[in-house]
Amino acid sequence: VDRRIFLKDLTLLAASTAIAGSYPWFELFKEETGKRRMVRLGIIGIGDRGRGLLLNLQQIEGVEIAAVCDNYQPNFERAIKLTGGKAKAYKDYLQLLNDESLEGVVIATPLYEHARITMDAFSRGKHVFCEKAMVMTFVDCYNMVQAQKTSKKILQIGHQRMFDHRYIKALQDIEDGKLGQLGQIRGYWHRNGNWRRHVPGPELERKINWRMYNEYSLGLTTELASHHIQVANWVYDEIPESVSGSGSIVYWKDGREVYDNIQMVFRYPSGRHLVYDSMISNKKYGLELQVMGDKGTMELESNRFYSEKPPAPAGILQWINNAEKDIFETIPIGGASWIPETASKYQGKPILNNGKKDIPPSTLLSLEAFVESVRKDKVYPKLVAQGYYASIATIMAHLAMKEQRYVEFPKEYMI
Ligand SMILES: NC(=O)c1ccc[n+]([C@@H]2O[C@H](COP(=O)([O-])OP(=O)(O)OC[C@H]3O[C@@H](n4cnc5c(N)ncnc54)[C@H](O)[C@@H]3O)[C@@H](O)[C@H]2O)c1
Repeated sequence: VDRRIFLKDLTLLAASTAIAGSYPWFELFKEETGKRRMVRLGIIGIGDRGRGLLLNLQQIEGVEIAAVCDNYQPNFERAIKLTGGKAKAYKDYLQLLNDESLEGVVIATPLYEHARITMDAFSRGKHVFCEKAMVMTFVDCYNMVQAQKTSKKILQIGHQRMFDHRYIKALQDIEDGKLGQLGQIRGYWHRNGNWRRHVPGPELERKINWRMYNEYSLGLTTELASHHIQVANWVYDEIPESVSGSGSIVYWKDGREVYDNIQMVFRYPSGRHLVYDSMISNKKYGLELQVMGDKGTMELESNRFYSEKPPAPAGILQWINNAEKDIFETIPIGGASWIPETASKYQGKPILNNGKKDIPPSTLLSLEAFVESVRKDKVYPKLVAQGYYASIATIMAHLAMKEQRYVEFPKEYMI
């Protein structure tokens, strides 16, 4: 029932003129009567994320996971188990891609494999859902989108916040002016852990802990920040014109090559910024994306809205009372108009007040959208562009940190 209510809300959203132009892919959620034809998909890379995607796909009506592929024996065997032996299982992804009965593939391999596998999939006429971030270099990013255009196949990048009901409601409210004029977006993603996985033998270190090495990953920038960068681009409806940043290894000095803390400032053509940091040796502040306008702030991860004119807290009321009664003779900071500038204790309100209803997981909905677009053979260039420009921005940020320079948007990679 919750899912139906949700889809109805999304359908209304899709019909709303303000939103429909910017997010045409919501039309995919329009309820249709009649039986929907089966879509046959393959999954390449059944590690942590691939397993999650597989379990989500199994919940979607009208999908057959007809093939799975992993080149690591334990995960290959797990993939067979998860599909009850019904899917064809491969160790070589090209063999899976050569299966002409598959319409599309879901790619959840490590970052450095995304470009190659996606291009091979397009050249064999497959639709592609590829996990974020897209790729590691500007040229791979560009080539991937050119290959998508030539093949006319679907390319959806795994930024599931585009399908998160709370984010969508926030965006709608922002477009309606609830935050007033946007001034800044601030975000962070903090964890406390070494990010390592157990390795059965030293020869598997790079295969399993690929996130730690420059050859396979851009570290926290692609693995965590890329999600929030995509959302910031989406909220501003702009792409960064330049980035500055700094990164270092300050805590996990264990042979890893990627930074364990990063700080970045993205500047957009309007003059607004996204100020972002990520670290993995303290988790007090967790993760958040704060969108700030002159009328209010939204914390998108926690689904909270804070007006710039909150009800006055009791302490302030007391102070005003006292001031009115002329009790205050001296005020240590600043005189009679002084009010504290420390953060307000105001708890705000939910952005999406969903009562007790569950919101369907955004990963599930993003896969539903992919399946539906495959069924209808419908490409959404604006959806491709979201993944593309988020990836370009993560690469800009990576270069800014690595080469300690101010990196401008590479105009030759505009699509
Ligand atoms: N959207 C999200 O929220 C989200 C969350 C986690 C991970 N991810 C993304 O998913 C991707 C995978 O991450 P992960 O944590 O699952 O990694 P992982 O290491 O757990 O899994 C990757 C799997 O791919 C397999 N693989 C590697 N190269 C292959 C090849 N050439 N052919 C077949 N199989 C191959 C590996 O053996 C492994 O089983 C990354 O791009 C990551 O950024 C996205």
